[in-house]
Amino acid sequence: MIVHVFENAAQVARAAAALFTAQILKKPDSVLGLATGSTPIDTYQELIRLHKDGILDFSRVTTFNLDEYVGLPADHEQSYDYFMRQQLFSHINIKSTHLPSGIAPDMTQECRDYEELIKQAGGIDLQLLGIGNNGHIGFNEPADAFPYNTNITSLADSTIKANRRFFTSEDEVPKTAISMGIGTIMEARSILLLAMGEGKADAILQMVEGPITPRLPASILRSHPSVTVLLDKAAASKLSC
Ligand code: GLP
Repeated sequence: MIVHVFENAAQVARAAAALFTAQILKKPDSVLGLATGSTPIDTYQELIRLHKDGILDFSRVTTFNLDEYVGLPADHEQSYDYFMRQQLFSHINIKSTHLPSGIAPDMTQECRDYEELIKQAGGIDLQLLGIGNNGHIGFNEPADAFPYNTNITSLADSTIKANRRFFTSEDEVPKTAISMGIGTIMEARSILLLAMGEGKADAILQMVEGPITPRLPASILRSHPSVTVLLDKAAASKLSC
């Protein structure tokens, strides 16, 4: 795991966009794993700018998102499908995008189908991750064991509270989600995790310096051969070096 600490969040976004740019220039038909949440928004802005400047062509790129809320249709303003179209897809020339469906009639089958689709695409070249305050990645919450494949997961109380800001009331925050599993994420050839702000400092400390445990799901990333972590000073503030 390589950790870079930058002065501010804007630099994190520019560095992340540089790594995506290198990936797409090296392999124009890259398979990218994408994330939602506040963390990647500035990176997506940078990618849009690079596309508009004629540097990035997404026409042969395929994407798979990490997760989706169960019960929210794609046109719901808080669905991750809607988020991705607003924040990235509608601004670039991408044709092949995938998110797991939160409203499939058989969600267990949807989990299997999503895994299969990723395999058929040849696997993920570069997976982007944020991190939850409790160390979750995707929606894989702290648990007794790492969930391997795409799965239906119950959101931790702290995650429901953290995501409350996007909904009018806590009752409206979905309590379950469909998420790539830890195994799905670990099979990506390279992983890029971003974290900004003091609120992430504890999770980052545990991820980098704590034990590898399903109680802090992101800690498993230390056993992946190619993980780059980009932090601002606040998120890195509790690291010992
Ligand atoms: C959500 C998403 C995660 C994301 C996390 C952090 O729960 N499922 O993929 O990394 O929140 O969100 P934020 O970037 O808004 O802090």
